[in-house]
Amino acid sequence: MVPSSQAVSTRYPRRISGRSTTLLTTSPIKGKSCARPAAGPQALPSSSVTEADTRTAYDAVADLYAELFGDARKSHPLDRGLIAAFAELAGDPVADLGCGPGHLTAHLTALGRTAFGIDLSPAMITLARRAHPALRFDEGSMTALDLPDGSLGGVLAWYSTIHTPPERLPDVLAEIHRVLAPGGRLLLGTFASPDILRPFDHKVTLAYRWPLDHLAGLLEQAGLVVDARASREPAETERFGQGCLLARKPAAPQKDQGD
Ligand SMILES: C[S@@+](CC[C@H](N)C(=O)[O-])C[C@H]1O[C@@H](n2cnc3c(N)ncnc32)[C@H](O)[C@@H]1O
Repeated sequence: MVPSSQAVSTRYPRRISGRSTTLLTTSPIKGKSCARPAAGPQALPSSSVTEADTRTAYDAVADLYAELFGDARKSHPLDRGLIAAFAELAGDPVADLGCGPGHLTAHLTALGRTAFGIDLSPAMITLARRAHPALRFDEGSMTALDLPDGSLGGVLAWYSTIHTPPERLPDVLAEIHRVLAPGGRLLLGTFASPDILRPFDHKVTLAYRWPLDHLAGLLEQAGLVVDARASREPAETERFGQGCLLARKPAAPQKDQGD
């Protein structure tokens, strides 16, 4: 059942991958299966799903996605707790990368951050602007952010890198590292895998479940320091465990003051 926006469910129809959601697959699953990757970005498996495929897939489901998930109160309380901790630690501004219909951008704003959203899908951006007219939402891709170096106090990437082909993820993380100011924070939420990187038939388009340790290694290779990793079991409506990493860009080294 699709919850109405008036009666906000205290269950969490988290992610369009649960058995109980009604969203249909809208694009073919074209990815390859993933063997255990060796260390290093070069060894990451490739996928034939393009960014254009992902954009088209999210454009097609944007209205339903907003109806199912477009309210932060529908998120799992533990997820909201992690986002609140991130909001406390991050500086301004915060970019909500892959913001979807903008509910977490609004949530970060309510938590006191100056936040704006970026999403690949024009339909998502239209919905976000309509729902939160006072906030800024830009169309764009995490693979090439139109933001100056060191300009952000925080980046939230909440289930938005799940479709990134594994071999492209190091580029996305390098982009996040570039735009974060020294000391800036990243909170990345994702589907977790207990063992190996696994592609799966997410109902919008092909997605990946990452072992958190492997993902943490990629963040570190991008120059970020991982401060915390958290995981939880799937809730009633979820298929998979969920995980998240909190990381920071190291502060700029102090200049030697001399003797
Ligand atoms: C599963 S939804 C998550 C939306 C929102 N963060 C949430 O937690 O509900 C994934 C979102 O990431 C966006 N996305 C996927 N790849 C992206 C990219 N390369 N750059 C920007 N947004 C992207 C999709 O358009 C979609 O809105």
